[in-house]
Amino acid sequence: MGTEDKEKIDLRSDTVTLPTEEMLEAIRHAPLGDDVYREDPTVRKLEQMAAEKMGKEAALLVTSGTQANLVSLMNNTKRGDLVFLEAECHIYWYEGGGISGVAGLLPWRIKGHWGAIAPEDIEVAIRPKNIHFPEPALICIENTHNRYGGTIVTTSQLHALSEVAKRHGLKFYMDGARIFNASVALKVNVKEFTKHVDNLMFCLSKSLCCPVGSIVAGDQKFIEKARKTRKILGGGMRQAGVIAAAGIVALETMITRLEEDHENAKRLAEGLAKINGIKVDLACVQTNMVRFDISGLGLPEELFVQKLKENNVLVSTMGKNSVRMVTHRGIERDHIEKTINAVETISTQVHPEK
Ligand SMILES: Cc1ncc(COP(=O)(O)O)c(C=O)c1O
Repeated sequence: MGTEDKEKIDLRSDTVTLPTEEMLEAIRHAPLGDDVYREDPTVRKLEQMAAEKMGKEAALLVTSGTQANLVSLMNNTKRGDLVFLEAECHIYWYEGGGISGVAGLLPWRIKGHWGAIAPEDIEVAIRPKNIHFPEPALICIENTHNRYGGTIVTTSQLHALSEVAKRHGLKFYMDGARIFNASVALKVNVKEFTKHVDNLMFCLSKSLCCPVGSIVAGDQKFIEKARKTRKILGGGMRQAGVIAAAGIVALETMITRLEEDHENAKRLAEGLAKINGIKVDLACVQTNMVRFDISGLGLPEELFVQKLKENNVLVSTMGKNSVRMVTHRGIERDHIEKTINAVETISTQVHPEK
């Protein structure tokens, strides 16, 4: 939560998290250099740590998740290529159309189950080599999946998709903005996810609490090319060690605590599920998000959000009747109780007889 707004319960996103004291200290003391000349030792250290954690040869610090996705899309394809991605994915919905407008690619959306695309649906979508058809180049998967409410694409689902990619000579990329949430929730090493994809990104600036930054990871050649693509997109940074210093602390200290966020999300979902007018699919609550349906309240979602705001609870909408709450380091047990009570109050106001 913002320091100026301590009493607010901010469940809009895990991107609202602030750097820890340890991060601020690390930033203060980080050895710095010009990273475009590759002379920033703190950036180099973070990139090496990140590559090792992901089980990839190399890694690159970029400014944001959106930039990480764009750099990776451009690196894995050539203009005019076809990219298979899940219909509700962040790249398609929330990245300003950069996939087409900047990368010049044709996104081919495939509806998946909670973010996981069925391999046979990709097989069907791949057309034979023919002058009429765009060239298929890449499969993208998002893990955890934001619009489905933080659902996990499992390691066996990833394995099956990687087999399709290999069979058809496609690259396989993971938008792993919250991949550590998946790894902590399933209690499997993150490499069990990453080993199935050619390259991936993850975000430092979400539940890991860094103020800025994402990481792209892949083989040496991919990352060398990504360094140039990042430069072209205006993402070559100079004394970027001030960003990387927080990233190092995040990788050292912020991963295991994600379990707390997941427990809070579960508690929140169970509490909400008992409220008249609220529908939550508890099976979807797998990490740090709770997405629920408010159609039973008979209130437009904007009004519901406004009413919660009047009770100092901030949340996001995800479309008609759909509301999302995200737990993170700024959310504690008593915030969960207060939020459930605030929703309960709204429900009682609209259904006084129940
Ligand atoms: C799954 C996913 N990918 C990419 C991004 C983009 O990250 P950024 O906001 O750092 O550009 C987000 C942001 O919420 C996300 O949820």
